[in-house]
Amino acid sequence: MTAQPDVLRRYPDTEWGKGPSAGLELEVEQGRVLVFPQLRFVLQPQEQRFLDAKWADGKAKNISLRATDGSLRGAVGEEADRVVLHAMLERYRDQSEALVARLFPHYRGVLRRGNTSYRPVAVEGRETSWRKDDSRLHVDAFPSNPVHGVRLLRVFHNLHPDGAPRRWRVGEPFDSFAVRYLRGIPRPVPGSAWLLQRLHVTKARRSEYDHLMLQLHDRVKADLAYQREAPQLAVEFSPGTTWIVFSDQVLHAAMGGQYMMEQTLYLDPDRQQQPSLSPLKVLERLTERALL
Ligand code: SIN
Ligand code: FE
Repeated sequence: MTAQPDVLRRYPDTEWGKGPSAGLELEVEQGRVLVFPQLRFVLQPQEQRFLDAKWADGKAKNISLRATDGSLRGAVGEEADRVVLHAMLERYRDQSEALVARLFPHYRGVLRRGNTSYRPVAVEGRETSWRKDDSRLHVDAFPSNPVHGVRLLRVFHNLHPDGAPRRWRVGEPFDSFAVRYLRGIPRPVPGSAWLLQRLHVTKARRSEYDHLMLQLHDRVKADLAYQREAPQLAVEFSPGTTWIVFSDQVLHAAMGGQYMMEQTLYLDPDRQQQPSLSPLKVLERLTERALL
């Protein structure tokens, strides 16, 4: 069974800052994966050496450039290596931002920069708990990071030097997924949002929206029958491919691959071209109450 008719949309762009595609807000807001098979992030000769998992420090699975202070995290290496790696992540960030500014003119000036990451570690064989296991279909939601309905727009790129694709599964539309699990989710315990913040489990108050998104994330990952039998599409992103998705909306699972870039951007749902398509509005419609 397939995920959603037309879940993948392909575009012929070959450059980040200019090209034929524009005005794709409604495509991405409808939960489609925008795929650019010829939009390559070109490594400089001095960056080729980073195509090796040894550069990850082993504590974090990613090397990241933090949006808040511009610092590089999760990497080993001498200062001279780190300078080159830092510049590589900055270039990916700048090219991703140029791309989204061009594709989504409606979001211009209102997208906020999130972290940039480089993921040099192979997906296959990563040991982890079921809750952190991203090879299970899920929407992105993070326990310590309440977002209050803010959207997660992500720009991915497969950098693999030897032809290995990034292999994903993509699931059914957000609303049909939410309907399956919503009824079983209890309301948050009164006072729990306050307590979680007080104990620094969360960095901000966990809204009812965040509570529901986390529960959806956990329940779908725990449901092995769903993982096996639910509508889904296997997708392979070849090296040199860039793809863009609202990862808080599109059910996805990473099944294989190595060496990927990712840029996160944040968007307030009321700045969407069609705010009613946001997970916040969908969940508010389904629960018939305000969730912020
Ligand atoms: C994820 O967002 O779940 C992981 C994506 C990937 O590593 O390809
Ligand atoms: Fe994810």
